[in-house]
Amino acid sequence: MNKIFRLTVLAAGILAGVACTACKKSPAATATKAGMYFGVAIQPGDILDENKAKLIVQNFNAIVPENTMKMINIRPTKTLWNFSDMDKMVDFAQKNKMMVRGHTFIWHQQNSTIVNQIRNREDAFALIGENINQIMTRYRGKIACYDVANEIFNEDGTFRKSIWYKWCGTDLYEEAFRMARAADSDAKLFLNDYSHEEAGTPKAEAFYEFVKSMVEKGVPIDGVGFQLHLCTDYGINEERLRENIRRFADLGLEVQFTEIDIRMKMPGSEADVAIQKEMYETLMRILKDEPNVNTYMTWGYTDATSWVPATFHGYGDAHLFDKDLKAKPVFGSLVELMKNK
Ligand code: G3I
Repeated sequence: MNKIFRLTVLAAGILAGVACTACKKSPAATATKAGMYFGVAIQPGDILDENKAKLIVQNFNAIVPENTMKMINIRPTKTLWNFSDMDKMVDFAQKNKMMVRGHTFIWHQQNSTIVNQIRNREDAFALIGENINQIMTRYRGKIACYDVANEIFNEDGTFRKSIWYKWCGTDLYEEAFRMARAADSDAKLFLNDYSHEEAGTPKAEAFYEFVKSMVEKGVPIDGVGFQLHLCTDYGINEERLRENIRRFADLGLEVQFTEIDIRMKMPGSEADVAIQKEMYETLMRILKDEPNVNTYMTWGYTDATSWVPATFHGYGDAHLFDKDLKAKPVFGSLVELMKNK
């Protein structure tokens, strides 16, 4: 890194940090003023730690529980409902006027052992129905939208052979949306996935066709989630991403960016950092231009507690704040883009 570049990066970093703590309008308020949601996935401990809680409130106007609402945590056994962490998150959001996304009801991971007792499709319908009813009635009016089902496709466009698919085929996916609409008619309902964001891949095509068929059948779906777990090695095909977003708009559906992070091979080079910045910015520009996109959720805020290195060995630095909870220069750029929305 040459000296001038290094100083510029340093100055931008300091400015970004200052922007989060001292300016009149916080990034969270900037997002609210722009009429958009700029959010983050959090863990229960984040709101118990004063510094982290402050950082989250100042910088984001929406949250999603990274793991807390998944079955293994919220309903560890058939009779034990563990609402305490989720209640605290929802109260935190209410107090700080933050939108909450609910994540997730139907998934192939992080299920509790109750799923081992499923013997037929009726059991599967009943279990998912109970979870939807209990959670959505408890948080009615407090959780704005839900990932009703998550990651139901394989990369090749076939349906994932999860326990849910094994018993119910795709019927449960559609019925879950109906059950969710009945439980809270004001909550927006989403089908969420990853690696289906750019039109033209087998997964993107299969996902689109399935959602289109849901709309045609009158299944109550409001939108689709694009997780966007990205990597500087591959970049983004902006044209294909916009094409995909627009065809969901044509179906009358919203697209939410639900789990953004952009990892790089460690140690990250200057070039990687620059590519990452450009990619985060591109997503924000797309949000500004495409009328059916208004939610930019990041999957965790700090490299200190990231899920990334454990899953992608040798990769990291994916988030907007570093390991010392300092905003990276890219964070300041995103705030500037939001100001001009
Ligand atoms: O809480 C236990 C702890 O008690 C135990 O000692 C420790 C030992 O491994 O595990 C802890 O649980 C971990 C949990 O995160 C909480 O930190 C699990 O092992 C770990 O598997 C789990 O990972 C989560 C992952 O979903 C589960 O598959 C990640 O935090 C979470 O970021 C990730 O989120 C998913 C989205 O839900 C869906 N889209 C992809 C995204 C990234 O994989």
